[in-house]
Amino acid sequence: MVDLSKFIVESRDLVDSVLDRLVPSADIEPVRLHEAIRWSLFAGGKRFRPALLFAAGIAFGAEEEKLVRTAAAIELIHTFSLIHDDLPAMDDDDLRRGRLTCHKKYGEATAILAGDALQTLAFKAIADDQGLSFEVRTRLISMIAEASGSPVGMVAGQQMDLDAEGRDVDFDHLQRIHSWKTGALIAASAVSGGLIGGAVDEDVATLKRFAGKLGLLFQITDDIIDITQTTETLGKTAGKDENAQKATYPGHFGIERTRELASEAANDAKLELGRLAVNTTLLSEIVDHTLNRTF
Ligand code: IPE
Ligand code: IPE
Ligand code: MG
Ligand code: MG
Ligand code: MG
Repeated sequence: MVDLSKFIVESRDLVDSVLDRLVPSADIEPVRLHEAIRWSLFAGGKRFRPALLFAAGIAFGAEEEKLVRTAAAIELIHTFSLIHDDLPAMDDDDLRRGRLTCHKKYGEATAILAGDALQTLAFKAIADDQGLSFEVRTRLISMIAEASGSPVGMVAGQQMDLDAEGRDVDFDHLQRIHSWKTGALIAASAVSGGLIGGAVDEDVATLKRFAGKLGLLFQITDDIIDITQTTETLGKTAGKDENAQKATYPGHFGIERTRELASEAANDAKLELGRLAVNTTLLSEIVDHTLNRTF
């Protein structure tokens, strides 16, 4: 039996110490920009993607010190995506990770720049990682860039999410929005762990399919908790999706069917895990944890 909560806390502490070193300190000019970056980055995010990267990497025998910079880099990209997601031109949110959103605290221009800087810091962190071979670094950068951008990554999914506001989209389209806006970076986290652990191509492909399903599950449960949990529990304004007429699973299927589809995504993810010959206990527990999460 693995203690998942202990594992999550330990990987969070490890990644946070590296994040602190990767990001300019708040007394370096331009102070406003670096304060804004730190405001959003150290606000108590769950650090789900780093934990998944560690779990996948450890399954393939990678040491934590080889995983931690890439884990931090993905968290930098994720935080950039949240800052931009909250902007008035996008979801227009006031609250994130239990505090004011970056643009509410520092203004829109600084929030845009904070996101931009986080993204470039992320790729520099991987490029400069002395613990990894040049070949692994290059593969990571290429794969994470694809998952973060367009046409099959987070940026593409965010555009499709905006385009779908107030529209009826079919199931395939909804699934694609969720898989790209959220699933892609989560898949990249697991794949990064595998690549660093030296997984063979076939296992890397399996990890990608596994975490694609997990990432879809993560966004389905994000849609569920937007409805079922309070603003205080979430640290972001509850009930926003309906107001913004977002394309969501509960909006399309109702909450009961959405819960069934969440269970199906969890099962699909576990089926993929079954194809791997390594110990996947921790990864399997992450699936259950995601299915049952309340924040
Ligand atoms: C929120 O991500 C945005 C989505 C992609 C669903 P998280 O739920 O991982 O947010 P933090 O990092 O814990 O704040
Ligand atoms: C966000 O999806 C996905 C990102 C790429 C940031 P949401 O817009 O549902 O995320 P929250 O609910 O604001 O965290
Ligand atoms: Mg959004
Ligand atoms: Mg949002
Ligand atoms: Mg949401």
